[in-house]
Amino acid sequence: MKISMINGSQKRGVSNSGIILGRLSDLLKEKHDLKFYDSGLKQFSNVIFEEIISGDVIVLSFPLFVYSIPSNTLKMLIELENIIKQKQDKKLILFALINCGFYEGIQNVTAFEIVMNWCERSGVIFGGGIGQGAGEMLGFFKNTPLNKSPFANLERALETMTEKIEIKKPFEITYLNPYFPRFLWKIMAVRNWNTLASKNGLKKKDIRRKL
Ligand SMILES: Cc1cc2nc3c(=O)[nH]c(=O)nc-3n(C[C@H](O)[C@H](O)[C@H](O)COP(=O)(O)O)c2cc1C
Repeated sequence: MKISMINGSQKRGVSNSGIILGRLSDLLKEKHDLKFYDSGLKQFSNVIFEEIISGDVIVLSFPLFVYSIPSNTLKMLIELENIIKQKQDKKLILFALINCGFYEGIQNVTAFEIVMNWCERSGVIFGGGIGQGAGEMLGFFKNTPLNKSPFANLERALETMTEKIEIKKPFEITYLNPYFPRFLWKIMAVRNWNTLASKNGLKKKDIRRKL
């Protein structure tokens, strides 16, 4: 089966969307023809869109931006919809992997509704997917097998999703929090934000400033 794996993160190098997509790829790569695309970094040419619609399955992995889809990826979906309507004859199925910065995976609920509506409008089967919370923590465990990390539940959900992808049947939407105390996650997150702010020449008070 031909599977298009689309990463919607705008990060160069390691991204959390890429980490989740990478683990799913490991589970699928033996038996299927996987093609990788970055919708967060560059716009797709018509050749790429045609490659995607000639496949069987799309897996779209992206970060939550303001409870929604990052603009580059939304633009890609709008263009993909047009190409599908003009040229597609067989049914595609799309699975989504959405990760967010906040701890609770349920924060991704509106983004899933948008993806579901896009599928209905484009004539694509909505395959459901995984809404992962505490996405920025994934990077800390990128060298640990997922099933031995606080993301063991993500590993199990990806395994079940793999079974559904292989038979082209929808997976339910699964919202996941990590197995990690929320208060510790918060301490780590605040430290991380402060370090990032300082690297960008900002002070703590700049982060708290209200516009
Ligand atoms: C512009 C912007 C908006 C964001 N909006 C949200 C949001 O609404 N809710 C949330 O939980 N995280 C939000 N985040 C955090 C990202 O979803 C989170 O850091 C994610 O893990 C990044 O994934 P990536 O490494 O694949 O790009 C936002 C990040 C950015 C840069």
